[in-house]
Amino acid sequence: MRHLIDIKELTVEEIEELIKVAKDIMQFPEKYSEKCKHKKLATLFFEPSTRTRLSFEAAMMELGGNVLGFSEAKSSSTSKGESVSDTIRTVGCYADIIAMRHPKEGAPLVASLKSTVPIINAGDGGHNHPTQTLTDLLTISCEKGRLDNLTIGLCGDLKFGRTVHSLITAMSRHKNIKFVLISPDELKIPEYVKEEILEKNKIEYIETNDLEKYMDELDILYMTRVQRERFLDEEEYLRLKDSYILNNLKLKNAKNDLCIMHPLPRVNEISTEVDSDLRAAYFRQVKYGKYIRMALILKLVNQNNENNVEKNNTKKEIINEMKCKNPSCITTIEQELDHVFILTDEEKNIYRCKYCEHIYKEENWWKSI
Ligand code: CP
Repeated sequence: MRHLIDIKELTVEEIEELIKVAKDIMQFPEKYSEKCKHKKLATLFFEPSTRTRLSFEAAMMELGGNVLGFSEAKSSSTSKGESVSDTIRTVGCYADIIAMRHPKEGAPLVASLKSTVPIINAGDGGHNHPTQTLTDLLTISCEKGRLDNLTIGLCGDLKFGRTVHSLITAMSRHKNIKFVLISPDELKIPEYVKEEILEKNKIEYIETNDLEKYMDELDILYMTRVQRERFLDEEEYLRLKDSYILNNLKLKNAKNDLCIMHPLPRVNEISTEVDSDLRAAYFRQVKYGKYIRMALILKLVNQNNENNVEKNNTKKEIINEMKCKNPSCITTIEQELDHVFILTDEEKNIYRCKYCEHIYKEENWWKSI
């Protein structure tokens, strides 16, 4: 069965097809109004959300289907100690497809391994948020008319921003993409994103902490929130939270057709005076999110299981010899899970946790635990 846990699971062709369907839905919504009649979507949100949960629910309703679910962990039996695996097995008895957000990284993957219905990752900690990336790609396609030949500025929290990592991954597969990575030193893009995505794919990028320096070169400016919930030190968050505030003055050298994006929620990163600028696309981006989720629900709910061959992992694995050191990994709360590490780079001897993809580079590092 096909799930969507990580944007990398979709080919460029599949993403193009989803964008095509989303645009068709935007143009001819009535054609799709009964496509999911008698189907049910469960939204399981163990972490707060406005856009993702409500857009999934609106998407299913506009396809003629029904929705059920919960919006916080404390209103589910998770508060009594029920595991993700048992919750998913249960909800699969009621729903045809599940969209799930969880603070622990790798939780949707664990769910997909146990589920009898398709699972969509609606955000797992600081790890992945593939439907936000699909939303961003549809936004870029609609606003710029292309997904190639673009200079993209990414600004703010590039360390914890899961949407930024996934967007870099997705855009790196298109031609002539350049990135300007704008952040304070403490919130720079992780080394593995630079090494394994940007450098591996020979993508041009510049790192800077100056928001205005390259403004005149940008086709897209993607602002992000400093992710308070991912900081272990509140004082560091308070020091960094207002690093960048986009306002009309800072846009004075920007191109006339710049597209300003933000996954939202915004806290303070974009002054409200920018909202009336036609280049501000972030509320249109919210709307695109519903249409691309409609296209995704259609794809997964109507999949022909016979055509979906399960992929076997042939990479070397280490099982139950060491534990993941990432405090946000799902293995820290799901007691029955095997601790699995996959050799993702033989040359550099890099193992990653199967669930949260936390990297360990040191040879024999686990012997020191
Ligand atoms: N962009 C996004 O994921 O927003 P929510 O947290 O409101 O779902």
